[in-house]
Amino acid sequence: MKFFIDTANLDQIKEAYDLGVLDGVTTNPSLMAKEGITGGANVTAHYKAICDIVDDNVSAEVIATTFDEIIAEGEALAALNPKIVVKVPMIKDGVKAIKYFTDKGIKTNCTLIFSAGQALLAAKAGATYVSPFLGRLDDISTDGLQLIEDIRLIFDNYGYPTQILAASIRGPLHIVACAKLGADVITAPLSAIIALLKHPLTDSGLATFLADHKKAAGL
Ligand code: E4P
Repeated sequence: MKFFIDTANLDQIKEAYDLGVLDGVTTNPSLMAKEGITGGANVTAHYKAICDIVDDNVSAEVIATTFDEIIAEGEALAALNPKIVVKVPMIKDGVKAIKYFTDKGIKTNCTLIFSAGQALLAAKAGATYVSPFLGRLDDISTDGLQLIEDIRLIFDNYGYPTQILAASIRGPLHIVACAKLGADVITAPLSAIIALLKHPLTDSGLATFLADHKKAAGL
C-alpha cells in the first residue's frame, strides 16, 4: 500500500519523507490556503518545492470547473514536473477532462468521490487514482469504509487499473482498515501516520530493556 501525506506544509512533507515511508503528496485548495498559498506564481512555486522533496506522485488540484479551463490548467500543472498528478473534481466536465488527460498520458486523481458509481465512472474515463473521502462520509453517519470495500469489489470484478486512494483519513485506525480492505493508497495527515508507530507496551517494553541493560552493565 502506498502512503501519501495529505498536506501542503513543506516541513511536514519533509518529516514524512525523512521517515522513509512516503510515496507521494495530496493537496487541495483548502490545504494550500491553510499554508497561505494563493495566486498563480505562488501556487506554481509551491508545487515545484513539493516536487523537490518527494520522489513521485504530487497531486495538484485544478480550480477550473469547465472542460476547456480544466484542460488548460491541468496541462500547465502537468508541465511543471513529471511527478505531478492532475487532481480533477468529479463533475461532468471533470470526467471528460480525465478522459482527455488519460489519452495524452497525463496522470489524474479524480477527487470528491462519495459513491461507488462515481468511482466507476472515473475508472471508465481512465483515472490513475480515485479519491473516496471516507472521513467526510463518516462525519454524516455514512460508512466510509463500506465505500472503499464496494469500489475494491467493482474494480477487481473488471480489472480496472485505476488505484483506490483512500482520502479524508482521520486517524491510524482508518489507515489499518483501508489496508485490510485493499485500498491501493492512503493519504493522511502526518499525525495519523506518526500515530501508527505508537503503542504503550512498546514504550514500557523499551524502557525496561534499557533499564535492564544499564543494570547489567553496572552503569
Ligand atoms: C485529499 O486528496 C483530500 O482532498 C483530503 O483528504 C480531504 O480531507 P478532509 O476531508 O480532511 O478535508
